Amino acid sequence: MDDFLTTAQFDEAAAAIRARTAHQPRIGLVLGSGLGSLAEAVEQPDVISAADIPYWPPSTVEGHQGRLLIGRLEGQTVLVQQGRAHRYEGHSMQRVTLPIRVMQRLGLEAVILTNAAGAINPAFRPGDVMLITDHLNFMGMAGDSPLRGPNDPSLGPRFPDMSQAYDRDLRRVALAVAEAEGLTLHQGVYICLGGPSFETPADLRFLRLIGADAVGMSTVPEVTVARHGGLRVLGFSGISNAANLDGSTITTHAEVLEAGRTIVPKLTALVRGVLRRWPDPRPA
Ligand code: HPA
Repeated sequence: MDDFLTTAQFDEAAAAIRARTAHQPRIGLVLGSGLGSLAEAVEQPDVISAADIPYWPPSTVEGHQGRLLIGRLEGQTVLVQQGRAHRYEGHSMQRVTLPIRVMQRLGLEAVILTNAAGAINPAFRPGDVMLITDHLNFMGMAGDSPLRGPNDPSLGPRFPDMSQAYDRDLRRVALAVAEAEGLTLHQGVYICLGGPSFETPADLRFLRLIGADAVGMSTVPEVTVARHGGLRVLGFSGISNAANLDGSTITTHAEVLEAGRTIVPKLTALVRGVLRRWPDPRPA
């Protein structure tokens, strides 16, 4: 059997964070490509370098800073992961999702995940934001799930339900915030592919046929682990490039980072608004 990370290792990483902050964060926030500056809104944060946390996967991608900020935002105590690791960098799915496990072990209630994504839905424009309503777990369907390997029942069930992966109450609040702020917020299905090459036009037409609205290279493994661990999830995709269904344009990482500059103020307003109006969990 392959090597897998253990609960003891997740706890070691969580202890390294506890040793560096007196805050008890309630809500996690993961910032995707080009979206790291959203962290500037956090008040008087304790800043922890990813390198100081055992087993934390280093991010090697431009636009991902590799640190944590723990502090206050809109009256909530938040843990912000500025920069994430991806499977295409060579990490296992378990390492990619270790930060979510650590958030679970730290006692967080929810995580807000953000990413940069390419449009598949032709109505989406670069700079737009999509509220993720559901996802297609393409990599997991092919056998590459972060839950592959021994299951520790103290973390979650062997066969977790995924019928309501994206919390309905949190989505309702996000839509209300968008309306109050006068922001257009699309809704749609996100699909995660392995990358790192962008999609061919034939890939994109196929993805559209199977029901995806936006495509990226992250988030779905994190959502899988978060839901396994009982965390509530809210997800936003910042659309960095238009649907290239006919092959008439090319896609670059520079374009992804550039679109991030338009997207960050919108995401900041959305995240701030959601934190301000945070709905308490429904009784089980
Ligand atoms: N495809 C996959 N991932 C992405 C894209 C894309 O077009 N844009 C930003 N991340």
